[in-house]
Amino acid sequence: MAEVVIVENPAAAGALVAAEIVRLIQHRPDAVLGLATGSTPLPVYEALHSRLAGTDVSQVRGFALDEYVGIDPAHPESYRSVITREVVEPLGLDPALIRTPNGATDGIEHAGDDYEAAIEAAGGVDLQILGIGTDGHIGFNEPGSSFASRTRVKTLTEQTRKDNARFFDSIDDVPMHCITQGLGTILRARHLVLLAFGEGKAQAVAQAVEGPVSAMLPGSAIQLHEHVTVVVDEAAASQL
Ligand code: GLP
Repeated sequence: MAEVVIVENPAAAGALVAAEIVRLIQHRPDAVLGLATGSTPLPVYEALHSRLAGTDVSQVRGFALDEYVGIDPAHPESYRSVITREVVEPLGLDPALIRTPNGATDGIEHAGDDYEAAIEAAGGVDLQILGIGTDGHIGFNEPGSSFASRTRVKTLTEQTRKDNARFFDSIDDVPMHCITQGLGTILRARHLVLLAFGEGKAQAVAQAVEGPVSAMLPGSAIQLHEHVTVVVDEAAASQL
């Protein structure tokens, strides 16, 4: 059963999760973080900025959950750019130690296996930060994704492309495909920390935490993991 922590606001959630990450890095300077994009984890990254001051982060390693396929890594909305802007630069991490799946179309058939091998070689993810989509997706694992899935190319649903169109000039500019860690990959992390804020996430949170474990609600995979912390505000907890 996941531990559910209800906090007053996203900033309080950020402080809580950041404190956990600081403890981890102080205990293990080459900790492996599982990084998520989207707006939800931003308060964590903001809180880490002040809380990590004075801690040696030169050996911290990280793996992003997902990336668009066929997007120039230098495009401001590639997840490589987002992670660089929101995490690597403000926290002073070594960019060479922070990986994102390789979304270049050239060699895409090996990119999933290469990413899995890199996570394995790093000894696995210590703490995986997760957001959740309104349809219950985690990473880009949309409903129907196998619980055993590993990093692979997926087609983005129309809904997710619409949701993410706000980051691009128009929906036509949103890539059609992504490469995402699988649910099986995510479940191998040693500690999962899922965050969600706002009423729009309430149903997905309730289904993920206490609904039937089902591939139709990818977030419900967290019920198969023995160390899960769910950090939500009152609104996102309202259907629990
Ligand atoms: C995207 C990301 C997910 C994220 C989700 C929710 O699809 N691939 O990792 O959890 O959106 O985004 P937000 O946190 O902005 O609500």
